[in-house]
Amino acid sequence: IIDELVVNPSFNEGDIQSILEDLRNENYTGPLSEYLFAAARFVREPHYGHKVFLRGLIEFTNYCKNDCYYCGIRRSNSKATRYRLSLEDILLCCKIGYNNGLRTFVLQGGEDMYFTTSRVVDIVSAIKKNYPDCAITLSIGEKDLADYKAYFKAGADRFLLRHETADYSHYAKLHPAEMNFAHRMQCLQELKDIGFQVGAGMMIGSPYQTMNNLITDLKFLSNFKPHMIGMGPFIPHNQTPFKDRLAGSVPLTLVILSLVRLLLPKVLLPATTALATLSENGTIKGLEAGANVIMPNISPIDIRNLYTLYNNKKITGGESLEGINKLKDMLNAHGYQAVATRGDSLI
Ligand code: 5AD
Repeated sequence: IIDELVVNPSFNEGDIQSILEDLRNENYTGPLSEYLFAAARFVREPHYGHKVFLRGLIEFTNYCKNDCYYCGIRRSNSKATRYRLSLEDILLCCKIGYNNGLRTFVLQGGEDMYFTTSRVVDIVSAIKKNYPDCAITLSIGEKDLADYKAYFKAGADRFLLRHETADYSHYAKLHPAEMNFAHRMQCLQELKDIGFQVGAGMMIGSPYQTMNNLITDLKFLSNFKPHMIGMGPFIPHNQTPFKDRLAGSVPLTLVILSLVRLLLPKVLLPATTALATLSENGTIKGLEAGANVIMPNISPIDIRNLYTLYNNKKITGGESLEGINKLKDMLNAHGYQAVATRGDSLI
């Protein structure tokens, strides 16, 4: 099945189910997993080789109007210390990032009503004016079509909106009823229609997730064909309703990364912070499973601890600006090279 996917990258439910069963029989760590990882690197090779794109992640607000059961910055978490970055703060992050070779800035935040369309447009325009050779990615949640259009017109190039789960009833177990799956999907379609490079994605091992849910995710991803796919293990946060849940499995996350690479050979696939948080060598393991993007955190150090979606977020080493040179050295040591380009989607 793996060989067949290498030749013909298309989703077949029975095949995916069968390969996942075989992988599970070796606990996602064994010769079959290794073979899958090698296949993922093999199909990545002609498109990206061992080049890795870096994205500077700026967590610009942790206010959020939503109440997702898994997320540490949900509105009901009264213990969270809330913050917002000013335009000046954001531009300073970009400046330092730019000087360190970053050519994509990802503005990520909760769904914060303070950041009206015009405020977001001002931020995007200012970054574009100062750094015309950089790509801007927004990761700010569900908005109206007119808002998305305004961001795009202001110069935003990409938009990340994880679908979180492609199963309607699973979606309802992760989110209060005020959020709904149909609207999430509508937003993703609108973003794509506008012309954004779009990122979807899901957590691995989120509460109530079944193997069938993951297969449905793979099916959705292979049909929708996002330009980017962000996937990391679920990690409990102790001020959320899911505080006592088990974290997702690192080996399963790696296997799913590889399957996604096989299904969508050109996709931009980050080795996520959540993966690095749960596993010592998570970033390298992610790359070895087929990932080709890393998103170093370039938020100001004093607020970095406040943007906590989950417990024990990794904030040192490769995930911080001070660590970018260390990160580059680590990549080199494993045969990868960070590249100072925008790293646009190939599709
Ligand atoms: N564990 C792992 N990932 C999480 N996210 C939110 N909360 C958690 C958590 N507890 C992910 C969601 C969201 C992205 C920004 O972070 O998938 O889309």
